[in-house]
Amino acid sequence: MNRAAPEPKQNMGQPAPRLDARMKVTGEARYASDMPVAAPAYAFLLTSAIARGRITSLDTTDARAVPGVIDILTHENIGDLKEIKYSAAGGGASTSIQDLGPEIKHDGQIIAMTVADTFEAAREAAFRIKAAYDINQPSASFGDAGSSESKAKKKLPNAGDAEQVYTAAEVRLDATYGTPTQHHNPIELFTTTVLWDNGRVTVYEPSQFMWGTKNTLAERLGIKPDDVHAVSHFVGGAFGSKAQLTPRTGLVALAAKRTGRPVKLVATRDQGFTIATYRAETRHRIRIGAQQDGKITSFEHQGWEVTSRPDAYSVAGVEDSARLYGFGAVKTEVTLVHADRNTPGFMRSPPVVPYIYALESAMDELAVKLNIDPVELRRVNDSMKDATGKAWSSRSLMACYDAAAASFGWSKRKAEPGAMRDGDWLIGWGCATAVYPTHVGPATARVQLFSDGRARVQLAAHEIGTGVMTVVAQMAAERLGVPLEQVTVELGDSALPPVPVAGGSNQTASCCSVVMQACNAIRLKLDSGGAFASADQSAEAILRAKFQRLGASTIEEYAEFIPEAAQPNAITGLFSNPIDKLYKGQNTLVGGSRGEKLMYALGAEFVEVRVHAQTREIRVPRIVGAFAAGRIMNTRTARSQLMGGMIWGVSSALHEATEIDPRVARYVNDNLADYLVPVNADVQDIEVLLIPETDREVNPAGVKGIGELGNVGTAAAVANAVYHATGVRIRELPIRLEKLLTA
Ligand code: MOS
Repeated sequence: MNRAAPEPKQNMGQPAPRLDARMKVTGEARYASDMPVAAPAYAFLLTSAIARGRITSLDTTDARAVPGVIDILTHENIGDLKEIKYSAAGGGASTSIQDLGPEIKHDGQIIAMTVADTFEAAREAAFRIKAAYDINQPSASFGDAGSSESKAKKKLPNAGDAEQVYTAAEVRLDATYGTPTQHHNPIELFTTTVLWDNGRVTVYEPSQFMWGTKNTLAERLGIKPDDVHAVSHFVGGAFGSKAQLTPRTGLVALAAKRTGRPVKLVATRDQGFTIATYRAETRHRIRIGAQQDGKITSFEHQGWEVTSRPDAYSVAGVEDSARLYGFGAVKTEVTLVHADRNTPGFMRSPPVVPYIYALESAMDELAVKLNIDPVELRRVNDSMKDATGKAWSSRSLMACYDAAAASFGWSKRKAEPGAMRDGDWLIGWGCATAVYPTHVGPATARVQLFSDGRARVQLAAHEIGTGVMTVVAQMAAERLGVPLEQVTVELGDSALPPVPVAGGSNQTASCCSVVMQACNAIRLKLDSGGAFASADQSAEAILRAKFQRLGASTIEEYAEFIPEAAQPNAITGLFSNPIDKLYKGQNTLVGGSRGEKLMYALGAEFVEVRVHAQTREIRVPRIVGAFAAGRIMNTRTARSQLMGGMIWGVSSALHEATEIDPRVARYVNDNLADYLVPVNADVQDIEVLLIPETDREVNPAGVKGIGELGNVGTAAAVANAVYHATGVRIRELPIRLEKLLTA
């Protein structure tokens, strides 16, 4: 008789504390710049003081005279570095602006790097370099003379004749919205440390993509990928800013090679605004045609996004906004505005944060126009199909609305703006939809189960704060039937099997799917040993007996997971093996609106604002968010992600903006004193409701991903609540009190 392995006890979905929690609070967790390195030299960056023009001379005489200076890298001596492709052009670089000059393409472009025995000497030397420029007038943003436009090269959703339907519609809404520049500002700065040893490179750098860092740095240096070892055990915040190779990494590697010493760079906070990416400012025009009963018959969304001169970065969130409801007809278009700026890039929930803010503000305006409750307007337009006829794999939007509305007490809302006053405070209640595309990608992992019940999982995943180490361990513990404490997870190292970039909220889905596959294979092997002892044995004894039958003390499985939609196949046009691409540092993420079905996580967010009747001070005392995102691997880390997301949403709504001096195209509040973010006193009651949802189509783990869901919709919910409190509609973020005072 062949008895199955003991049924695993439930681990998935439990609120297990983070496995790395103790390491993080005790300081045992080592971030990239904490890695011990013997006798390093220190680097310091010098960045351009102009946004557009040309370096005419770079005098390093005084800099070289600073005691302890070893080397100075400038555009005249970094010819050994190879040009690498920008990400949108198929490469792994964050920007195509990689030269240190002489052409200057944005303010804060790196123009030199000093290397010295001490940090202080390197900094002193950098300040003593004298740069002279030929200056041209830069264009900073939208509407500046000299900026140029191009169309986003993406196939965007269009269905029916939206313009005609709009013209004939009973009710019409035509509104424009705007969102500002934002910077990620991870607390961990942009650091890089490089060591050479016999032609091989070790790089310690915070990374959202270990195998991307490895392959792209190898390309930059013109060496074999196997000669690069990238290590990033923990990442102190990234939010998209550490997903691609920025120009600093190649410079540090080159300096380490030239000086024959390990070189360590920690860029300053203000340099982080220009040497990495950011969320570009956007503009939107939305036109909605509707029937008196609220049914939307046409939806048009035009977007404008700022990017750099050479790079066509765009988030094109119309891809998602045009599919959120059952619009009759849709028309979308995205225009890029090229200015003299560094290249923007991914920043938490890149497409949906600005585009859904615009859509969900417009939905509220339409509800007001129609005199329909905003929740009911969403219900009338809730649909399992979009205007192009594509169906949702699962959609629990109204279940989220109903749960959040009930907990919030929405039924007590008086529709009339300003009708809910409490003394000097005008109370406003608003709501909006949160949505994020479900992504998953090919991934690999190695899992070992030992006869004493311990297990080890190895994969090059990224602990960027989301808790991947913990959820992967939960998956392994459950599938292998061993206690969570007996599972160790090794990650953050390019010597481990590759997984996709920790971006697009795919990591939990991709990593848990591959680990599940490896663990299932281990269980099959374990159970193949045949009959064994009596039923009253402990789980440990049964496991030992099974290993004995197999004559082994370890079972090891290496698994390659390829999502259904990423399988090489003639119909989808994918011919190459996506696992080969992964090993080359390329991603093949699938999902969202790109496949046969629409795959998205959804949520509904309700906020209360209080606006002071005289000063117009704005407070957000209460937020309730309900979210449905397939299988929730860990309710504790999920709540934490969603709560953090909503707080960031409040930040977008009321605080955050990178201010640009239009005369010189320069960021002016490039520090954490002037770049406003909410503090504890700005955040009061936040409730997170997790709505059960099962979706077997998204991926084997059934996980939709939540890292980027929570901060979508919050800004619109706040804006809608501010309107409800005051009767004033602010269509450009952030909503600061001066906008309400002058409105
Ligand atoms: Mo996230 S912006 O996809 O790293």
